[in-house]
Amino acid sequence: MQENKTYNWISKKRTTRKQFFSGKSGKIITLLGNSFRTAVKTLKKFEITSYEINPIIYMRQKESKFKRINFKFGDILSAPVEEGVFYDLDFCCTIFSVEEHVRKFKDTDFLLTICLRGKTLESSLAFFSKIMGSDTYKIRRYRTQRNLYILSAGEKTYRVITYRDGAPMCCIAKL
Ligand SMILES: C[S@@+](CC[C@H](N)C(=O)[O-])C[C@H]1O[C@@H](n2cnc3c(N)ncnc32)[C@H](O)[C@@H]1O
Repeated sequence: MQENKTYNWISKKRTTRKQFFSGKSGKIITLLGNSFRTAVKTLKKFEITSYEINPIIYMRQKESKFKRINFKFGDILSAPVEEGVFYDLDFCCTIFSVEEHVRKFKDTDFLLTICLRGKTLESSLAFFSKIMGSDTYKIRRYRTQRNLYILSAGEKTYRVITYRDGAPMCCIAKL
């Protein structure tokens, strides 16, 4: 039963995040994590560089047969900001723990995945908007797809999709 539940969460995560990769290719800087074998399946069109802060997970990645992936040990915060690169910031914590990261990559083409555990979507998006440089924000929820929101923060708009992955999660990308 628990296994089924976990499988459903993973599959929900993959299908939600996959929508944001559609139509994209080229260089990606990402966090492949422990399930890197499945995570790469959604990234077939990319030239991948993956950062990992956990030494045990990094060793597992490095010893794998994925020679085409550039596995790097360290904080993704040390990744260079470059034009034409897609930044897949898939964190398992709330936005309040990764302010510095979001700030660094705010002007890039990014997909931010964050946890909402113990926080509301509203407070997380308010904080996100602030990092993006706007004190005001507006959230519009789609009537036909209840987990899809459009966030307007200053001049910019973002697509926000919520899903459950054990904990409530949300993906944010520029529109
Ligand atoms: C949520 S998982 C990635 C999941 C993967 N993208 C997937 O689709 O299955 C995040 C991974 O990145 C690592 N990580 C978290 N914060 C990091 C950071 N600031 N820099 C580098 N790695 C980090 C974690 O140890 C974990 O292995």
